[in-house]
Amino acid sequence: MAKRKALITGITGQDGSYLAEYLLGLGYEVHGVVRRVALEDQKHRMWRLKGCLGQIELHCGSLESYPSLYQIMVDVKPDECYHLAAQSFVAYSFEDEFTTLNTNINGTHYVLSAAKMACPECRIYFAASSEMFGKVEEVPQKETTRFHPRSAYGISKCAGFDLTRNYREAYGMYASSGILFNHESPRRGYEFVTRKISSTAARIKLGMADKLYLGNLEAKRDWGHSREYVKAMHLMIQQDTPDDYVIGTGETHSVKEFVDIAFGELGLDPGEYVEIDRKFFRPAEVDLLVADTTKAERELNWRYDIPFEDLVMEMVRSDYEYLKKN
Ligand code: GDD
Repeated sequence: MAKRKALITGITGQDGSYLAEYLLGLGYEVHGVVRRVALEDQKHRMWRLKGCLGQIELHCGSLESYPSLYQIMVDVKPDECYHLAAQSFVAYSFEDEFTTLNTNINGTHYVLSAAKMACPECRIYFAASSEMFGKVEEVPQKETTRFHPRSAYGISKCAGFDLTRNYREAYGMYASSGILFNHESPRRGYEFVTRKISSTAARIKLGMADKLYLGNLEAKRDWGHSREYVKAMHLMIQQDTPDDYVIGTGETHSVKEFVDIAFGELGLDPGEYVEIDRKFFRPAEVDLLVADTTKAERELNWRYDIPFEDLVMEMVRSDYEYLKKN
């Protein structure tokens, strides 16, 4: 029997790399969309894929170019498409609203439209986000909670979510959105707060840094492990009918708690090293996120059981070991 084909946008990112490995393990033929800059600088831009580069097929394209996405869809004719690529750093979306809105909204529209034209039977997963809940209107947040985004990034994800639903309703396409809460791992980008904390704590321990400068320590997030969340993405588009699902841990922790566990793991007192820098505060903050995953548990049979402390410790140990060796 022919292998099922999956196409991943954003394959070089944290989720894309875990998803590629997971789908290969399930016997899929895995294709990825990458920008030319990534192909030209594989050492720096494809480090997360080093374990599976020989087993996947990469195609040059960009979220800014409808023709490139359309051509890839025509060439690959995927059975499943995971649309993960985006300008995903919330803080940056305040500095450049225009790029964030253009790339994220148009990019999602292009992916949906290209699939509709080239391979209408393809099942599509859209990476929506808990940032859509923003100034939360209920706690915990579930699929029916009203959106109140607080950044251009959150607004772009709301638009992508609506576009995805509309392709489902208007054109009968199989298109589902995963409303994923924060998810981390040793492969997280350094600009996100968890990796910034784990990597800087490791650098301080090794005498390579003196201080960690952070913004709002009181913000609370529902932090899970990316490796587990990609399984939910896959499960979502194996269902009989497309739908939207919230994915999270059901627990919330403050940035400060993350700091305390990370520094504690290395035997460091955060009071000595952590300083507040106003430049890391956001013009509009999302204060509290926590997921109600009842629907995903019931309908997808998806479960999450990694304790928060284990996630923090895995990230810190990984950074510490890597820096010590290199
Ligand atoms: N990045 C960063 N840097 N965040 C800081 C800092 C800092 O120095 N200091 C405090 N924070 C706070 C932010 O204000 C925010 O409340 C929280 O830490 C988490 O910030 P990020 O790690 O940048 O993630 P995010 O919650 O804004 O967004 C992430 O999760 C979303 C899902 O809810 C991203 O992965 C998004 O792409 C994703 O959709």
